[in-house]
Amino acid sequence: MSEKTEPSGVIGWIDSRLPILSFIRDHLTNYYAPKNFNFWYFFGSLAFLILFLQIFTGIFLTMHYKPDAKLAFDSVEFIMRDVNLGWLIRYMHSTGASAFFIVVYLHMFRALMYGSFKKPRELIWLFGVFIYLALMAEAFMGYLLPWGQMSYWGAQVIINLFSTVPFVGPDLAVWIRGDFAISDPTLTRFYALHIVAVPMVILLLVFLHLAALHTVGSNNPDGVEIKKNKDSEGNPLDGIPFHPYYTVKDFVGIGVFLFLFALTVFYIPEMGGYFLENANFIPANPLVTPEHIAPVWYFTPFYSILRAIPDPAYGALAMALSIIVLFFLPWIDSNPIKSIRYRSLLFKINLFVFVISFLVLGWLGVKSVTPLYSELALRFSQMYFLFFTLLYFYSQSRDSLYSYAFSFTLISLLSIYDILRISADNYINLLVGLVLVGSFVLLMSLLPLFTNFNKEKEVPERLTE
Ligand code: HEM
Repeated sequence: MSEKTEPSGVIGWIDSRLPILSFIRDHLTNYYAPKNFNFWYFFGSLAFLILFLQIFTGIFLTMHYKPDAKLAFDSVEFIMRDVNLGWLIRYMHSTGASAFFIVVYLHMFRALMYGSFKKPRELIWLFGVFIYLALMAEAFMGYLLPWGQMSYWGAQVIINLFSTVPFVGPDLAVWIRGDFAISDPTLTRFYALHIVAVPMVILLLVFLHLAALHTVGSNNPDGVEIKKNKDSEGNPLDGIPFHPYYTVKDFVGIGVFLFLFALTVFYIPEMGGYFLENANFIPANPLVTPEHIAPVWYFTPFYSILRAIPDPAYGALAMALSIIVLFFLPWIDSNPIKSIRYRSLLFKINLFVFVISFLVLGWLGVKSVTPLYSELALRFSQMYFLFFTLLYFYSQSRDSLYSYAFSFTLISLLSIYDILRISADNYINLLVGLVLVGSFVLLMSLLPLFTNFNKEKEVPERLTE
């Protein structure tokens, strides 16, 4: 343990008025983190790094960008061609947006694997989901600024979703746009929100996220609470000071990340149209709809859920629910075992299938609609929601009556929707889809009655490595 010697001299003078040293001591040198952090614990600090990279590059872009519908597209081209290193700053910012989502998705996946959203870390998770929402808003508004075809038409699709809200929808859409169509007022308000308001909200949320984290301490790959076993000086036996141990480790992660980031920025900044879509190199034209409108890759899983239901209002509702459900995760999965290491085989299968479903939905979201793809989007959307339903089911051991009722209810709900939409054209796709999803429900909910696939392992008292 580092000695708590009181600083003297100038440092002491400052510290007694502004406790910077005490802060460093409490949150770095004397802050104990579990000693078994692994690869998955790099992504929090990486998200932090990217946040500052985005702010830094954003400030330089703002110096040359013109938030005016007549000038915006050209000002971005000016940055790319004429401003010294403008291309680098712009590509760092656009690649940074995708990198942010990659890192945040991995960070969230870690929380799912190790149950980091569970008691006592519910608030860390809730602030995280708010950050995720704010990030989506930030990325969406940023994408309008280059005023390319996809900026314009992507925003058109998303803002039109608001008009599906009952009663106030159409007025709400006009209020968001500031006009009856996407135009200069929309651009200027998105600019203000993108460069000032939302970044401030994100910074505040990140502060709260970390404050909550430092109050309860980090979870770890074993899901063991290190604060339960302390030495005579009150330090966790399974912990090590964050500084120097994890600052050094995080720097290695940062090095590897920056290497991959630089490779992308210098060699494939558009990532074949996934990070910057091809249609966005054409100036926005309200009179010409692009052949194929698709959002940037990080929104496509939700875009697929939106398109999975033909009625736009219900599609928008399903999409909203797919994000809102994340807020309730700590209460949906109340199983006291946190880490995947000690959870059952069925839990692992459920998580694996969820990740696959999310990826497939993401892939389907960049594809044009065909009957087969629409059917797939619907089935994988159902799988997305089934993940949460099964998490709830596995949150405690269930008797046979509950298990049968559970699977019967789910399959009935799936079938009712299919009966409502069956037609001569779609019945084969529909039956195959229903049989596949229905079998998954049956297996996942009834196997615990006949096998030990849902048996959990005993959680150790102390860390295992
Ligand atoms: C700007 C975005 C974000 C930043 C800068 C950030 C930062 C961090 C940092 C530095 C940590 C501690 C180190 C670590 O555990 O990796 C952390 C932990 C955590 N974050 Fe985030 N985070 C962000 C977004 C999110 C999101 C979107 C979620 C979930 C929806 C989330 C959920 C969590 C959870 C549950 C923990 C505790 C993990 C544990 O103790 O195992 N974070 N975050």
